[in-house]
Formats: sequence, structure tokens, C-alpha cells
Amino acid sequence: MQLTLNDFQLRDEIYFPKNSELLANAPTKGLWENEAKRWERVGYGEILDGHGYPWDELPVGKHFDSILDLGCGYGRHYFYMSKYREITWNKYYGFDIAENMLRRFLRLRQEDNFLPSAEFSLFCIPPKF
Ligand SMILES: C[S@@+](CC[C@H](N)C(=O)[O-])C[C@H]1O[C@@H](n2cnc3c(N)ncnc32)[C@H](O)[C@@H]1O
Repeated sequence: MQLTLNDFQLRDEIYFPKNSELLANAPTKGLWENEAKRWERVGYGEILDGHGYPWDELPVGKHFDSILDLGCGYGRHYFYMSKYREITWNKYYGFDIAENMLRRFLRLRQEDNFLPSAEFSLFCIPPKF
């Protein structure tokens, strides 16, 4: 399956496929939407306390043109990179199958937007993207 930006429409700050069947028929979609509800109970502080692999492998103080975050969830890498590794970027693209995860990401980002001038786009994608 090859998709382009023309295959998506923006709805409440998230890009969704215009052909909604692509997402509705995804076999693992329900699983991850439920998982996202469970993760709602995980606090923002707790998720950033964990260290070790893979967090320690991330560079410190680097700048990137584009970040592509596949299975971004609610943005743990996004927040960790900017807050604890001083990583910056021009464009961030987060992809996830679960809308709940992405909605939580948007809420957390309203509280902590470390790079307000950087481009930021979230995509709710079907599997085999
Ligand atoms: C274990 S979580 C990790 C989330 C995030 N990277 C983190 O470290 O917190 C896996 C993520 O991948 C997403 N996911 C699972 N299958 C997917 C698929 N086929 N396409 C896109 N995202 C998917 C889930 O919704 C979930 O947010």
C-alpha cells in the first residue's frame, strides 16, 4: 500500500486516511485503542523516570531536520528527546494506529511544547502503511 498526503484529511489536529475503511478494518486497531486507555493511567513523570536502553542510546544536543516517529504512542520519545537530551528538529512526524494515543499526545503537548516553532504533524495510520 502506498499512501501520499493527498490520501489524508486533517480532523482535530490529526491526519486520518480519507478512506476510513483502511483504519476501521485494521485487525489490531481495537487492541491498541484499549491499550491506550490503560496507558492513560501512566503519569507523565513516571514515563520519563526510566533510563537505560533505548533512552541512553539517544544523542545529546543534536539538531535534526526531520524526525519520523513510527508507533509514536503519546510521545514519550518526543518529550524525552527535547526535555532530557536537548535534541531539536525542524519537523516532527508522529505515526500511530491508535487515535487515543495521539489525542493524549496532543493534550500533553499543550502542557509542554518545547519547540513551538517546529513543524508538528500526527498521522493515524492503518497497518502496512
Ligand atoms: C509499545 S507502544 C510504544 C509507544 C511509544 N513509541 C513509546 O515508546 O511510548 C507501541 C505503539 O505502536 C502503535 N502501533 C501498534 N501497531 C501499529 C501499526 N500497525 N501501525 C502504527 N502504529 C502501531 C501502538 O498504538 C502503540 O502506540
